[in-house]
Amino acid sequence: MRHQPADTASNGIPPSASESTELVSIPPSQQSRISERIVIARGDGVGMGSELRPQHAHETNEDEEDGFVAVDHEDAADYGWYFRRPQPTKPSALDALHPFVQLLSLSNIEDCVGVEAAFPEQERCSREKLMYRLTKCPELSLGIFSLPVAPNQPKPQPTLVAHIIATRTSSPQVTDATMAMPEDWQSKSSSTVQTPTDTEPLGHQDQGATIAIHSLAVRPEHQGKGLGTTVMKAYIQRIKDAAIADRIALLAHDPLIPFYESLGFENMGPSNCQFGGGGWNSMVLEFSNVADD
Ligand SMILES: CC(C)(COP(=O)(O)OP(=O)(O)OC[C@H]1O[C@@H](n2cnc3c(N)ncnc32)[C@H](O)[C@@H]1OP(=O)(O)O)[C@@H](O)C(=O)NCCC(=O)NCCS
Repeated sequence: MRHQPADTASNGIPPSASESTELVSIPPSQQSRISERIVIARGDGVGMGSELRPQHAHETNEDEEDGFVAVDHEDAADYGWYFRRPQPTKPSALDALHPFVQLLSLSNIEDCVGVEAAFPEQERCSREKLMYRLTKCPELSLGIFSLPVAPNQPKPQPTLVAHIIATRTSSPQVTDATMAMPEDWQSKSSSTVQTPTDTEPLGHQDQGATIAIHSLAVRPEHQGKGLGTTVMKAYIQRIKDAAIADRIALLAHDPLIPFYESLGFENMGPSNCQFGGGGWNSMVLEFSNVADD
């Protein structure tokens, strides 16, 4: 790449303030674009073909300056797009975890118990409820595992860093019955078809059109890295793509309402659910309201 002259011009165009030029590193892929813009900025309609390029003393050291274009200060406004471009980003805290998403199963029970520690004690899912949910409907769960790359270390084991645990319900919102678990769940199959007069059965209902998320949790040491957002987005997309439910519902305390709204949930107002001491808002994401990709 040759360089834009700064002080003389054989095509008769007066030079700009040559004393105030700066060297700005420009990737080769951007250089032709700059040349075009220089022509436009000068309004001279003259191309930058080599035959029209005036010689400049600095060009004797072309190799050393390769990849640089001289930009006059007064022309800097024309390069705003360049100065505003995103700087190369460092790997994020999320990248450093080398995360991957995977369905959970009963074999993950100990990991899930550990992740539940993210909740205040009264809001945690008990080990038995986790067993119940991971036995009856593991396909409605999702985990993010971290598999950090550690050079010269024995093969690392994946660690569960975030999870979503859910069941199905025929109720359009999460209720105390949805949150509950039948005492005899080990010996009884899940409840199925309901008539409109039935009171809501406890726990998972195979044919419910609502997916009730009981737990979204991120290990405390990994919160604030985008894991909660990532696992929720992946979950919503999976359920939507599979077209296996009409909606996703969950309960949230006030501070997290904006987080769930940013994911497409609507706040239906205070919930009657008394789980964990109550004070919940009922949030629902209706797939009929979600635009197709
Ligand atoms: C809530 C939780 C799942 C969020 O996961 P996370 O990985 O920390 O969240 P992210 O890093 O993806 O951040 C998502 C957004 O939520 C916000 N957020 C996260 N936790 C918050 C909290 N406790 N209160 C208010 N906002 C919160 C973040 O500020 C961020 O907002 P931004 O995008 O505007 O910056 C996690 O903090 C957690 O496990 N908390 C304990 C369990 C819990 O309360 N679960 C929710 C039950 S409804």
